[in-house]
Amino acid sequence: MSSKQLLSKFDKYNAEAARYIAGGVVSLNRKVNPAIVFERAKGSKLYDVEGKTYIDYHASFAPYLLGHNFDAVNEAVIQAIRDERSLYGSGTNAMEIELAKLMCELIPSLDLIQVSNTGSEATAHAIRLSRAYTGREDVIMMIGGYNGWHNEVSRAVMPSLAQVGKRVSPGEYPFVPLSAGIPDGTKRRVHLVNFNDLESIEYVMKRNPVACVLMEPAMQNVGVVLPKAGYLKGLIELCEANGTVCIFDEVKTGFRTQLGGYQAKEGLKPHLSVFGKAVANGYPLGIIGGKREIMEQFDHPEPAKKVLIAGTYNAHPVNTAAAIATLEILKNPAVYAHISAVSNQLYDGLKTLFQEKGMAVSLVNNASAFCVYFAENAPADLHDILENVDFATDLKYRKALINKGVYHIPIPCKQGSVSYSHSPEDIAKTLEITREVLHEI
Ligand SMILES: Cc1ncc(COP(=O)(O)O)c(C=O)c1O
Repeated sequence: MSSKQLLSKFDKYNAEAARYIAGGVVSLNRKVNPAIVFERAKGSKLYDVEGKTYIDYHASFAPYLLGHNFDAVNEAVIQAIRDERSLYGSGTNAMEIELAKLMCELIPSLDLIQVSNTGSEATAHAIRLSRAYTGREDVIMMIGGYNGWHNEVSRAVMPSLAQVGKRVSPGEYPFVPLSAGIPDGTKRRVHLVNFNDLESIEYVMKRNPVACVLMEPAMQNVGVVLPKAGYLKGLIELCEANGTVCIFDEVKTGFRTQLGGYQAKEGLKPHLSVFGKAVANGYPLGIIGGKREIMEQFDHPEPAKKVLIAGTYNAHPVNTAAAIATLEILKNPAVYAHISAVSNQLYDGLKTLFQEKGMAVSLVNNASAFCVYFAENAPADLHDILENVDFATDLKYRKALINKGVYHIPIPCKQGSVSYSHSPEDIAKTLEITREVLHEI
């Protein structure tokens, strides 16, 4: 198949999509160049409409920890349908109880949970819950963090240096919106600080009535930015001293770091946590959970203090079955051992290749989540990324890999994901292709 024919088939689909879908693609963060049209995905592989195969490290923005269309998860979903499980829309049921029990058993900070369909819903619930619990309205978040699409959290993930200005510490950054239509009042209630900077959290807390700090324990929407030793513990302590709710957004770090989330890695108990993505291996499900006294606000006896949680499709049996099956699979230590082995094979290989090439890059990983930063040092915050990363080379690298059949989303500094379905052969092939790519760029 010539590249001309390939291009024309993609063009045909993309033109038709543009005719009927606003912006030409559903969820506009998927609008990238090259605009490949995919047909199916299985395990570690993506297949486009021309039958070209890619080894996938995008994992659809990370949920596929076990791999695409993982048989045991799909079987559980099919079984739930065969068993005539339905969304009864009335009362509780055995499946949602099983899921809740599993979550509370696996994650020590969860006394109680609630279920939503997405991570964005979960972060929205967490913010409102914190406001109701504290009687305050302000929220602290990180620049360079992503916590979903609703008003409070929609600030630019990767603003330009010109937009955020010089490094500020202690202090806060302007709210650069990721969306039009966010009320000014909402923006005023959100305070943005740099990751790994406790002084700025303290600075904002002293000046504003802060209901919650909402943050990813490792920032995985600008690659992988790890917390410094003591940062997360210090953050929880600061929140406790200030009567502020500390919310870990573990939508990405959740089950990718380890079974108990990033919090388990550091032995911490945030007041609230939210999970999504890998919890149901690609089926839509969000979890919000945490301290009993905060979560009980959802069912407060005084109507004025009761926080609304509703959603026709919350804990839909298809997604609930997928989550239960995923968590049961992840309980087997051999699963994480395999993911870790293939991830390390990839990281060791990449480091060697870049060294051989004499290119100064920094490979950072949190278990199976990784990023090759085209910068000498691992970033500690967004400012480090904006000041030091060579975005143009990153993009060139990604596009060259895609061209040769290794898929990373063609956006600089986006996290890569290894899955349980990646084999040592997949990694060896990836490294072979990367070697070729490094000769080209
Ligand atoms: C850390 C984090 N929080 C929340 C969300 C929102 O989740 P969803 O896309 O399921 O609404 C995302 C999505 O990328 C995320 O990465």
